[in-house]
Amino acid sequence: LLHPQLAAFAAVLDEGSFEGAARRLSLTPSAISQRVRALEDRLGQVLVRRGSPCQATAAGRQLLRNVQQMRLLEAEALQDVARAPGGPRAIAIAVNADSLATWFLPALAALHAGHGLLFDVRVEDQDHSARLLRDGTVLGAVTADARPVQGCTVRRLGTMRYLPAASPGFVARHFPAGPDAASLGRAPLLVFNRKDALQERFIRRITRARLAPPRHYLPSPAAFLEAMALGMGWGMAPESMLRGPMARGELRAIGAGRLDVPLYWQHWSIRSAALAQLTAALRAAAAQGGLR
Ligand code: ARG
Repeated sequence: LLHPQLAAFAAVLDEGSFEGAARRLSLTPSAISQRVRALEDRLGQVLVRRGSPCQATAAGRQLLRNVQQMRLLEAEALQDVARAPGGPRAIAIAVNADSLATWFLPALAALHAGHGLLFDVRVEDQDHSARLLRDGTVLGAVTADARPVQGCTVRRLGTMRYLPAASPGFVARHFPAGPDAASLGRAPLLVFNRKDALQERFIRRITRARLAPPRHYLPSPAAFLEAMALGMGWGMAPESMLRGPMARGELRAIGAGRLDVPLYWQHWSIRSAALAQLTAALRAAAAQGGLR
């Protein structure tokens, strides 16, 4: 139903390439390219920055966001998401890695079982995911940002509590007297990725200093815990992920400090049954899955 030029445009950004878009829409890459170019001519703006992957320009992002809303409403207007033209559409959402590793999936599983919804999950740091809402990549995001993105609705999900932890041997060696500026400046640190500010936030909170300890980057929640248990470093980990390893004596907390990260669910303010179901399911899963 979507205008063919808009469909081609959105498919290029979903798939990242003209070839991918062609495959998805059962067209040739040159047909896709013609449609996108015709749309750009019509609007007098470049919408897609050609590259690998292809990305939206500022004008393209604005258009993509409108198109994503139209696609969802269109599917629902046909009263049967599963039989919408082009097959069932996945709902694009953003979530931080630690939520995904702990409380998040039961909500999606319930909606898939109950309504056949499909999901296109983007993993993004909670301090950065609002950008994906703003640029139209996702319809909803788990975010630490309480301020509504323009055109979005915000619901509080709860607080994810992080504790600083390491293996017992690591704690005995590096923190015999608890964490202080001297020990935190030297002890090897585990950091999830370049966007992960939790460890530094914790260090600053208890030392009032910016320290630069030696560090590993390790962007997998499960590997992060395993590396801590293997003595590679200390790091901040969600309380709910630490419970088992702490009970087994593989990990222990470093001192009594902690960091509370409030999380919110932000989604576009459109009348969509799927979004309403998703919001309810996420709030239930957050409450059950250990957010405070
Ligand atoms: N906040 C990021 C996320 O959940 C990275 C998590 C950092 N995790 C950690 N244990 N330090 O996606």
